[in-house]
Amino acid sequence: MTTAVEAWERYAEKAQPRRPTNAAGATTWLNWTQYADHGPDESALGELTGRRVLEMGSGSGSNLAHLATLGAICTGVDLAPSRTAAATARWGHLPSLEFVTADVIDYLATVTTVFDVIYSIFGAVWFTDPASLLPLVRRRMAPDGVFAFSHLPTAETCITSGRAISKWQYPAERWKQLLTAAGFDAVTAETIAAPTGGQQGTLWVRARRA
Ligand SMILES: C[S@@+](CC[C@H](N)C(=O)[O-])C[C@H]1O[C@@H](n2cnc3c(N)ncnc32)[C@H](O)[C@@H]1O
Repeated sequence: MTTAVEAWERYAEKAQPRRPTNAAGATTWLNWTQYADHGPDESALGELTGRRVLEMGSGSGSNLAHLATLGAICTGVDLAPSRTAAATARWGHLPSLEFVTADVIDYLATVTTVFDVIYSIFGAVWFTDPASLLPLVRRRMAPDGVFAFSHLPTAETCITSGRAISKWQYPAERWKQLLTAAGFDAVTAETIAAPTGGQQGTLWVRARRA
């Protein structure tokens, strides 16, 4: 087991299962932010029925499960084996939904599937060097495919690599430059304001494969 896998397994030990229903009474939902019942929904991902969707760093699988209920053909990839096991146990009964244990770089370098949507919610985009990740994401996406992700906002580029968990956290304008240079267009990057009582908003980035 690598140190990164060990670190994510320790993180997973503290993970709480998602509530059975949200404030609206729904049993599945997609949440881009770190706050419950807050922020935009899946509509930013465009049409989902019959579309191939990849979540990078899928964790509990709850966000991806929602997209499967909407008719998407879904794959979640996560570095931590216990996350794959938990997601499969909770959501594996849904059709067209699979969870895979892998580093997203290895997964994207070997898979042959072409995805219509690739996204990450506080997931692997935040923890993977974009110099390696963005070309692989683009290569595995359909033309006009949607790439979207969220992580904590930052005013300045903040890279912490070489630790058990490395992090690549960029401000909105830097993400726009990186994505444009990597062959994406229609790039938007905005901060979703925190709800009342919340301390930080959420950086939410969307782009189209050019
Ligand atoms: C902060 S958690 C977020 C999980 C989930 N997206 C959510 O919103 O609940 C980050 C997840 O990304 C996974 N992860 C981190 N680096 C990864 C990588 N290089 N490849 C695949 N998964 C990764 C971790 O194992 C962990 O489950």
